[in-house]
Amino acid sequence: MSTSMSTPSERRSFARDAIMWEALQPHLQGDPLDVVDIGGGTGGFAVRVAKLGHRVTVIDPSPDALAALDRRAREEGAEVSAHQGDLSGLLDVIGAEGADVVLCHGVLEHVEDVAAAMRSLHDVLRPAGVLSLMVAQRTAAVVARAMAGHFTQALAMLDDPTPAGRVGRRFTAGEATVAAVSADFEVLAVHGVRVFADLVPGSLLDLEAGATAALIELERAVSQRAEFLTLASQLHLLAVRA
Ligand SMILES: C[S@@+](CC[C@H](N)C(=O)[O-])C[C@H]1O[C@@H](n2cnc3c(N)ncnc32)[C@H](O)[C@@H]1O
Repeated sequence: MSTSMSTPSERRSFARDAIMWEALQPHLQGDPLDVVDIGGGTGGFAVRVAKLGHRVTVIDPSPDALAALDRRAREEGAEVSAHQGDLSGLLDVIGAEGADVVLCHGVLEHVEDVAAAMRSLHDVLRPAGVLSLMVAQRTAAVVARAMAGHFTQALAMLDDPTPAGRVGRRFTAGEATVAAVSADFEVLAVHGVRVFADLVPGSLLDLEAGATAALIELERAVSQRAEFLTLASQLHLLAVRA
């Protein structure tokens, strides 16, 4: 992957995608797979997976996101099947045939019933199918609030799993793992994503050539170290249908 990204926000999101992509890639090798990206949005990741030769279906409630996905897929010469819908209707869209891989990135934060959502993710997978789950982590948000001087907000957020603001619900690593295990997933790996990328000003990535690549190398090195996990803005769980 190239690290010649043009904006600080692209460079930050590159750090997120690099860690998740490296964890998922071994499960996207070989013959074409049926991949579902629930809440796939504008399709940045779905198109990338489709270009590997897999059959990708994106389901998202936002017509604007689906229109952007359509444009992106056409521009990149990829074929992605797009459906307007949400996680609660996942099984209706995919049907009994099921999928080999399900991506659910940044969506669990917005559902009302996490247990029911996890059950749907389980049921749509074929036996031994793989779930790639990305959620916002609460502990990192507490640190961010405190560092901005919002100490009362940070304290209130500490043990409160209820949805708040644009991001919605945030999880601890324990909560996300329990949600997966309770829905009969075996968790293969938990990665911390954006441990440092969201703490440092984007301008630091412009200071010297190779700064983004060096940041990603650092993110990779700490992504599975327990002592850094709670600082990660997001958690990536790789799980298999038990
Ligand atoms: C933060 S974006 C993530 C987009 C993409 N998965 C990614 O990682 O870049 C959240 C997406 O979830 C979609 N979404 C929100 N609620 C949803 C639900 N209940 N079921 C499925 N998708 C939902 C939104 O329309 C949006 O495209």
